[in-house]
Amino acid sequence: MSQLIIFDTTMRDGEQSPGASMNKDEKVRIGKALEKMKVDVIEAGFAAASPGDFESIVAVTQAVRESTICSLARAVDGDIDRAAEALKAAERARIHTFIATSPIHMEHKLRMTPDQVVERAVYAVKRARNQVADVEFSCEDAGRSDIDFLCRVIEAAIDAGASTINIPDTVGYAIPEEFGNNIKTLIERIPNSDKAIFSVHCHNDLGLAVANSLAAVANGARQVECTINGLGERAGNASLEEVVMGVRTRSDLFDVHTNIDTQIIVPTSRMVSSITGFPVQPNKAIVGANAFAHEAGIHQDGVLKHRETYEIMKAEDVGWGANKMVMGKHSGRAAFRARLEELGVTFDSDQDLNVAFARFKELADKKHEIFDEDLQALVSEARTIDNKYELVTLEAHSQTGETPKAKLTLSVEGKETTVESEGSGPVDAAFKAVEGLAKSNANVQLYSVNSITSGTDSQGEVTVRLEKAGRIVNGVGSDTDIVVASAKAYINALNLLESGDKAHPQTDGV
Ligand code: KIV
Ligand code: ZN
Repeated sequence: MSQLIIFDTTMRDGEQSPGASMNKDEKVRIGKALEKMKVDVIEAGFAAASPGDFESIVAVTQAVRESTICSLARAVDGDIDRAAEALKAAERARIHTFIATSPIHMEHKLRMTPDQVVERAVYAVKRARNQVADVEFSCEDAGRSDIDFLCRVIEAAIDAGASTINIPDTVGYAIPEEFGNNIKTLIERIPNSDKAIFSVHCHNDLGLAVANSLAAVANGARQVECTINGLGERAGNASLEEVVMGVRTRSDLFDVHTNIDTQIIVPTSRMVSSITGFPVQPNKAIVGANAFAHEAGIHQDGVLKHRETYEIMKAEDVGWGANKMVMGKHSGRAAFRARLEELGVTFDSDQDLNVAFARFKELADKKHEIFDEDLQALVSEARTIDNKYELVTLEAHSQTGETPKAKLTLSVEGKETTVESEGSGPVDAAFKAVEGLAKSNANVQLYSVNSITSGTDSQGEVTVRLEKAGRIVNGVGSDTDIVVASAKAYINALNLLESGDKAHPQTDGV
């Protein structure tokens, strides 16, 4: 049985989901969780995209020592050198360089001839190889590239020193049988294909990312690029949990194994959802709240008699039920710090720890049992951006037959101001009051509330997606009072809108 390498790109392609930005500390937390899950390669970002991305990669290389850490780089000197610099401290470093190979991208985006593209690919791989031993080369938009041209460029990239060749279905266009056959053809036809691992990177525009990835594995691919919860550009990437559980559950069909500790899947899914503000749909495979819930009586009866009648996987194998009551009102600072450290959260200073601990005590006063998920949300909320707005107090009034009202005191760059408004409900009133002051003119694209744990004393976790001049951000907030959680999420989104933007890896070529 050969190993299927799991390459996680939650922090790079996943971060390209509109609004799914992650800061340095959040990336370190995710990186540690992925390492604990035994992910082989972690694409921590795109070093040349922004100083923030660069610093996040550096921080991940310092915090994560077991997994290979990778940075994306276009096939240009500046990107490759910046990636190498960011990866300097890594125990195991990989540069992932790419150039588009489809006729439509070469002609209209790159404005380069196929010969120039081959030449540039070879140049980029060699430049990367001069700086690190492990180089991956991707043919962007391979799903729409000519197979003869792919053979040519890939053979040259392997000769130049690439040890992983990635075949992305960048626009999610492929169909499983076709994609699997293409992988087989490439491996058979490229004379030096035995010198590289073939990898796939599938997008989900037609809902086929996982199916295409599995078809590729059945045809010889030995690395799959994927993301937690299937996060990623547009409709997302192949979801890590589905790929891993697919090959494991159907080991009768796939002659591969992964290193993944599957019990870490659900906690990591929760962490990524809470950091990015992307809720997980209840019917999402493996990690959705309903993934192991049986509603129909006939199913429940079957499962009670013999679990395998309706269940092909065990919920506990993917980490369901692992959420233990970890802390309560009487837990001390040392226990709080120790539990957060186990979750990958460390504090830069005693002051940061004190602020988080004070929040924890406040929560413990309202909520009897505190779970890991509550701690994750508590830390996620303290996103370390320079916050222009902070919520100080909120008073909401709603009564049947009366117009709902909200009154908030906000700190704006350190100065307190009180605002109030009416609305169709207390949340609407709170948003209107804040907007009346901030005058952001941003559009609310999404408002969603999820309970973090079960029980009516659960914290509500709210996501507010704001759009302004094409820029999208997701604000998150949590509280046992969902009006407060909503106001926090709205304010968090406003603060994110105020913070900077960064370059996108696929906006331009060379
Ligand atoms: O989808 C894609 O083509 C990519 C590459 C940069 C690997 O994300
Ligand atoms: Zn991609």
